[in-house]
Amino acid sequence: MKEYSELRSEIMERLHNDLKDKRLLHTLGVESTAIALARRYGVDEQEASVAALLHDCAKYMPVEEQLKWIRQGEIGTRFPDIDQYPKLLHAFSAAELCAVEYPQLSDQVIDAIRYHTTGRSHMGTLEKIIFSADYIEPGRVQFSGLQEARERTFADLDAGVALILKQTIAYLEQQDQPCFALTQEAYEFYKDQIPEESTIILENVLEL
Ligand SMILES: [Fe+2]
Ligand SMILES: [Fe+2]
Repeated sequence: MKEYSELRSEIMERLHNDLKDKRLLHTLGVESTAIALARRYGVDEQEASVAALLHDCAKYMPVEEQLKWIRQGEIGTRFPDIDQYPKLLHAFSAAELCAVEYPQLSDQVIDAIRYHTTGRSHMGTLEKIIFSADYIEPGRVQFSGLQEARERTFADLDAGVALILKQTIAYLEQQDQPCFALTQEAYEFYKDQIPEESTIILENVLEL
């Protein structure tokens, strides 16, 4: 990526202005995890860094402004009821915003930002890295299944993604919250890619 250090400084300045301290710390945890995963799975580390830094950049943007961005893109067309899922908006709006404000970013970086909360079927490697780094970064408060998710993600990315999706869906059920179609689709897609020896871990998660 051209002029990475200049771009990183520019993004950091934006994040200092737009994010609360706790969110900035989380973002840096996602960045270091994403870089480690990029090294592990042979992905460009600078792309992983930039996607991680920008993944939550729209977190505190007013909802109406976020919806304006989202309605300019394919998510807005495909899911006209997207406003019913307030926790997902920041990923979709950040992707649209970053595509306009950082035209030098690749489609892979933009998609990694766009699908970091929901996941989707057929994710590229960078998408899977940002999706899982967001979940397993070192600043996350300990919760059941976190250690399993960390180990699995570094051992086998698809199995890690499947485990995280399964835990996310279990959490949503527990909270009586609806599961977004893309997340359900993603789980249906990745659960078939789990090697047999992972089944035990996933069954344990089911029992939580
Ligand atoms: Fe997020
Ligand atoms: Fe995040």
